[in-house]
Amino acid sequence: MSQRIDVKDLNIYYGDFLAVEGVTMSIDPRSVTAFIGPSGCGKSTFLRSINRMHEVIPGAYVKGEILMEGVDLYGSDVDPVAVRRNIGMVFQRPNPFPTMSIRDNVLAGVKLNNKKISRSAADELVESSLRGANLWNEVKDRLDKPGSGLSGGQQQRLCIARAIAVKPQVLLMDEPCSALDPISTLAIEDLIQDLKSEYTIVIVTHNMQQAARVSDKTAFFNIAGTGKPGRLIEMDDTPVMFSTPREKSTEDYVSGRFG
Ligand SMILES: Nc1ncnc2c1ncn2[C@@H]1O[C@H](COP(=O)(O)OP(=O)(O)OP(=O)(O)O)[C@@H](O)[C@H]1O
Ligand SMILES: [Mg+2]
Repeated sequence: MSQRIDVKDLNIYYGDFLAVEGVTMSIDPRSVTAFIGPSGCGKSTFLRSINRMHEVIPGAYVKGEILMEGVDLYGSDVDPVAVRRNIGMVFQRPNPFPTMSIRDNVLAGVKLNNKKISRSAADELVESSLRGANLWNEVKDRLDKPGSGLSGGQQQRLCIARAIAVKPQVLLMDEPCSALDPISTLAIEDLIQDLKSEYTIVIVTHNMQQAARVSDKTAFFNIAGTGKPGRLIEMDDTPVMFSTPREKSTEDYVSGRFG
């Protein structure tokens, strides 16, 4: 299920504004890759370009290539809706549909894709997705209650259940723990560790301890100044990035000297 991603010389634009310049990197399957860097360096922009969510913003586009198992996701015969189905996303603020039940929240993506499934297949999918998101035991007796009635950490795990219910190959997470308390954060980090056996996972985080704890590879992005494009400075095995990075700016950033 898990897939490899190769990015080649990617430039990302908002109209005339070049937000991210010249990114080349490989993202390994069955592993966790962390994106770190100061605010505004383009981490979210780059993340959204990986599942073609970037181009839904008017005037926004990319130049360059993103290959998944060798296939260019921006190829002329590729359907962006299929890309978004294969590459799921979890956002900073848990965003379950508030009036929908927990059950229907899990099934929302599947229904959006116009998939007809039987009641029993739906029940199985709800259970397996909630188990996958490590939420089943907490909600199994109230599946018909609204998603908004859960705690923040539970809502975020519900969003992860919704994302994995469509059986994506890649999971992109943009600061998934920034609105959560430390206990819920650790629960999500444990979950990420469990999920990586099946998925390619990319996580954006401002929390250096989190990047060090959960990721196999870390990519550091930086920006030379306001209005300048963000760039990938370096990427390596996470322990190397946090102990002996090649670049001074990486060392300064991971040790908290700026950013
Ligand atoms: N919808 C948009 N339209 C125009 N410019 C945008 C848009 N979204 C982001 N940008 C700009 O693109 C650049 C990169 O922003 P982005 O949100 O990707 O940074 P980030 O690294 O995720 O920052 P943070 O850590 O604060 O989330 C910034 O200059 C930002 O102002
Ligand atoms: Mg961001």
